[in-house]
Amino acid sequence: MSAVSGFDVERIRKDFPVLTRELPGGRPLVYLDSGNSSQKPAQVVETMRDHLTWHYGNVGRALHVLGSESTVAYEEARDKIAAFVGAPSRDEIVFTKNASEALNLVAYAFGNPVGEDERFRMGPGDEIVISEMEHHSNIVPWQLLAQRTGATLRWFPVTDEGRLDVEGLEELVNERTKIVSIAHQSNVLGTVNSVSPILARAREVGALMMLDASQSVPHQAVDVAELGVDFVAFTGHKMVGPSGIGVLWGRRELLDAMPPFLGGGEMIEAVWMDHSTYAPVPHKFEAGTPPIVEAIGLGAAVDYLNAVGMDQIKAHEKELVAYALEALPEIPGLRIIGPRTPIARGGTISFTLEGIHPHDVGQILDDVYGIAVRVGHHCARPLHLRFGIPATTRASFYLYNTTAEIDALVRGLHHVQKVFG
Ligand SMILES: Cc1ncc(COP(=O)(O)O)c(C=O)c1O
Repeated sequence: MSAVSGFDVERIRKDFPVLTRELPGGRPLVYLDSGNSSQKPAQVVETMRDHLTWHYGNVGRALHVLGSESTVAYEEARDKIAAFVGAPSRDEIVFTKNASEALNLVAYAFGNPVGEDERFRMGPGDEIVISEMEHHSNIVPWQLLAQRTGATLRWFPVTDEGRLDVEGLEELVNERTKIVSIAHQSNVLGTVNSVSPILARAREVGALMMLDASQSVPHQAVDVAELGVDFVAFTGHKMVGPSGIGVLWGRRELLDAMPPFLGGGEMIEAVWMDHSTYAPVPHKFEAGTPPIVEAIGLGAAVDYLNAVGMDQIKAHEKELVAYALEALPEIPGLRIIGPRTPIARGGTISFTLEGIHPHDVGQILDDVYGIAVRVGHHCARPLHLRFGIPATTRASFYLYNTTAEIDALVRGLHHVQKVFG
């Protein structure tokens, strides 16, 4: 039982059959890689299985019973997700295949000849602002946009503690800035960024603001209207949902003003041989057969998270991260990359062990203890370069993790040190 009132972690673990797995050699699984991709509760798996078995048809285009049942379930999933993130309108929820696609969709809207709106015009002299702590998914689309339009890409630096350095905010976000896009929570440092000062500056200079909420939406209650930004991207597989489904939330009037991203069936109003007109949002951005069962599965994931309670999940993870931040530094030679206090940070801890390559750390933790962590640069290479290291080992916690699993990690790391003398 967790100390968070009413939160029964053992009860939650029963919903995730994989957590009872014994790995070869009889090792119990210790899954500390949810920042990469989370496990799925039986409720999500069963909803998807039931839909595929009894209700499956294509959405939007079939008049028969199965087509209509699928359409209703798919659109109901949109309603659930809109409510989950406080979207003012269900039409502001665009289903994509993942967070990367949602970020690319917005980046594509700029400097596109179809877009007549001044806010999306971009060329030499314009600036895009990101940060040094971004996942590649929130770097590369903006690099491509800068290359395509001649705009300049700029970024917030990161402090030694692993916080966003906003000292130069006034100069960095200026009259030339068209869009600011930053992580709500870092997938490496765990840092939760404070949005309001950056948003206030973006508003002052007339820039749009996007949040990559891939690591925050699964772990804390996120209300897009309260945040006040223009776009938010997140991804289903990190929030107990399936892979193959992501979400872009955008303000309705901005989505209306943006050009389509991909062309194809179901995103049109009418098609002639030489031109087309487009369906209203969100369908304008959902070309072709969408990830139907995945969207329905994400709806079930949101039901599951709501039933547990996002505030309870956040409190449980805070307890786990506080425990780990006490225990890990006692290991000689261990250096945490990111904030060392459980304040304004989530349940992701990346670290190095002096003289031992993270790949060896991950290998031994897996081989000997069945502990799944991620090693490498976690798709945030520039951030690792900033800290002068090629890679880290990352343990990331979720609602189903326990302090006993953190104890196992600590034991495993002591063993790693013994192996490497
Ligand atoms: C902060 C952040 N942004 C974006 C992504 C990309 O998510 P996806 O691979 O689902 O597109 C990830 C995934 O690790 C992430 O952690």
